[in-house]
Amino acid sequence: MTDALIAAARSAQARAYAPYSNFRVGAALESTEGSVFLGCNVENASYGLTICAERAAICAAVSAGVHRFRRAVVVSDSDPPAAPCGACRQVLAEFGLDLTIDGVGAKRMVSWRLSELLPAAFGPEQLR
Ligand code: THU
Repeated sequence: MTDALIAAARSAQARAYAPYSNFRVGAALESTEGSVFLGCNVENASYGLTICAERAAICAAVSAGVHRFRRAVVVSDSDPPAAPCGACRQVLAEFGLDLTIDGVGAKRMVSWRLSELLPAAFGPEQLR
């Protein structure tokens, strides 16, 4: 169950800052051109300000000028594997629902399409 994107997400997970939940998450986002952007969760003493791994990865990609993605890997140590939270689904959807998301836990992996995780999404087309 290891490929380069999963290994990259594991490397980000190792850098998670999660002193409150101890739930460490890593995300690796692969662009349509093949570049990879990483994120980890960054918690805060003011708990509600926590940033999830997926949103950290999106911010890294957009900061590098990249907006088109084909695959996201989200790794944690939970089984069944964690899927992106609702806020992260919405933020990922901004850049297209045609995205494969692989959730990887301690032993198992589950694959979804973002369109399946966020049906009837509100998106940029509503604002045109
Ligand atoms: N978390 C993520 O990083 N991504 C998710 O999709 C679910 C939750 C983080 C937020 C918090 O630091 C910890 O996991 C527990 O909720």
